[in-house]
Amino acid sequence: MHDQTIVFKSSDLQEQSLGLRFDLPQLGEHATGFVIRFETKPYAYVNQCAHMPVELDWNEGKFFTVDKTFIICATHGAQYAPETGRCIAGPCKGKQLQPLAVTEKNNKVTIHLDSLVDALKKQSPKT
Ligand code: FES
Repeated sequence: MHDQTIVFKSSDLQEQSLGLRFDLPQLGEHATGFVIRFETKPYAYVNQCAHMPVELDWNEGKFFTVDKTFIICATHGAQYAPETGRCIAGPCKGKQLQPLAVTEKNNKVTIHLDSLVDALKKQSPKT
């Protein structure tokens, strides 16, 4: 049984700066997720490009474009809207990062994995 929540200190998640990565063993041995802060709010996604199944960040935590307005995949440059995870430019335009529920309260950013776990259970009822 894996933890259903991941918690970071709010102060560790800076506005339009480096994202924080975390493991997602629910999705496989090497799967990761990430959380970024954009226009004061945290947003979390599975760290897998909608174009090909690779992580977005070659340099750990570098998820933003140079102008800090979009999330970018380092492999072929797909760009995603930080608030929705929707790809707005690049080879997977119109597709979507997989969002993870995230809340912020009492100086803590919490990623909630229950919805991810529920979705996985529906996909493979044997687990
Ligand atoms: S793998 Fe991300 S844009 Fe191609």
